[in-house]
Amino acid sequence: DGGDPAKGEQIFKQCMTCHRIGPDAKNAVGPVLTGVVGRATGTYPGFAYSDLNKHAGEAGLVWTEDNIFEYLPDPSAFLKKYLTEKGKADQATGSTKMVFKLANEQQRKDVIAYLKTFSEK
Ligand code: HEM
Repeated sequence: DGGDPAKGEQIFKQCMTCHRIGPDAKNAVGPVLTGVVGRATGTYPGFAYSDLNKHAGEAGLVWTEDNIFEYLPDPSAFLKKYLTEKGKADQATGSTKMVFKLANEQQRKDVIAYLKTFSEK
């Protein structure tokens, strides 16, 4: 941990190109991120996920803080690695629709701390 939710709110402005968060959030280019920490991957109602994202969720991926931290620098690579480690290399193809990448470590911690303020755990 070590993330600052107030700083994360500023970082989240970059995410808002595609995502909404909060009690009244609606799907946009990306799925609603309200409650994403602790949620199974690819399960927000009404969002048309990529096969890669959906398959990772079906294989058991849950958006823990650690997993979001590993995902943000290279979303497609992270999902493919997860599926490959689960013995599902045949599904580790294509790419996620999330083209955005966030490399900076402190910024990732801060944005995750912000996401947590909208999640049960
Ligand atoms: C998916 C986080 C920025 C587009 C996701 C997911 C997370 C996430 C956790 C998986 C959600 C799920 O499985 O329900 C973030 C964060 C961002 C960010 C924290 C900012 C730091 C963006 C931006 C875009 C974008 C800027 C558009 C350019 C998408 C799309 C998906 C997605 C389209 C669905 C992926 C798929 O179906 O393959 N994002 N995102 N995201 N995000 Fe982002």
